[in-house]
Amino acid sequence: MKKINVAIDGPAAGGKTTVARLLATKLGLIYVDTGMMYRAVSWQALQDNCNLDDAESLGKLAEGLDLRLEADAGSGCRVYVSSKDLTDLLHEPEINVVVPKVAAVSLVRRDMVRRQRELADQGGIVMAGRDICTVVLPDARLKYYLDASLEERTRRRVKDLESSGHKVTFEEVKEQLAKRDYDDSHRSDSPLIQAPDAKYIDSDNLSALEIVEIMIQDYQQALSEV
Ligand code: C5P
Repeated sequence: MKKINVAIDGPAAGGKTTVARLLATKLGLIYVDTGMMYRAVSWQALQDNCNLDDAESLGKLAEGLDLRLEADAGSGCRVYVSSKDLTDLLHEPEINVVVPKVAAVSLVRRDMVRRQRELADQGGIVMAGRDICTVVLPDARLKYYLDASLEERTRRRVKDLESSGHKVTFEEVKEQLAKRDYDDSHRSDSPLIQAPDAKYIDSDNLSALEIVEIMIQDYQQALSEV
């Protein structure tokens, strides 16, 4: 079967991971979570006590990082740095705070985009992030912008955090998501925007499965046109 790439962008906690993972499983594609790549760079920067205002050092750190992604049935995408499995450490609050700053550094982005394009080169990839449709894979056959209201995204994120043992309030999570979205959409390099040719999906009133069904229909249509 011919394999095509699917690109998904959207704000934090908009359901990209759940949808991309499910879609990849159903279609036998490989899910690549690019947010985890920026999180891994941020984790290493914190480990090394890196000055987060020093773009050049952050760029060097990103370039030298022994970063590996592996498809996984549970999380969908496991992340290793120097063979250490960081997957379960990368959603900690201190990473959430620094990641937009690290991800705004052009030297870091240049290296991550290079790695992402290499991963997508083989085809058959579902790649999710903020600039996948606009910058990383502008020629992807299927492109989506997965959105949801801030209230709904906050509800989902609170549920995830509570189930992993974190004590949080609705208001604090809402404020953090809004701040991260603001930073991601207002940076000068590759801000989060909807690509003009990406299909907009509002997930407020759609389940992950319903969204995946829309995407599978598009995928089958696209395959018949290749
Ligand atoms: O998707 P996730 O919320 O894990 O992404 C974490 C952060 O990584 C985002 O808030 C953003 O700052 C950065 N990111 C990015 N470009 C991507 C994916 C993520 O700048 N393609």
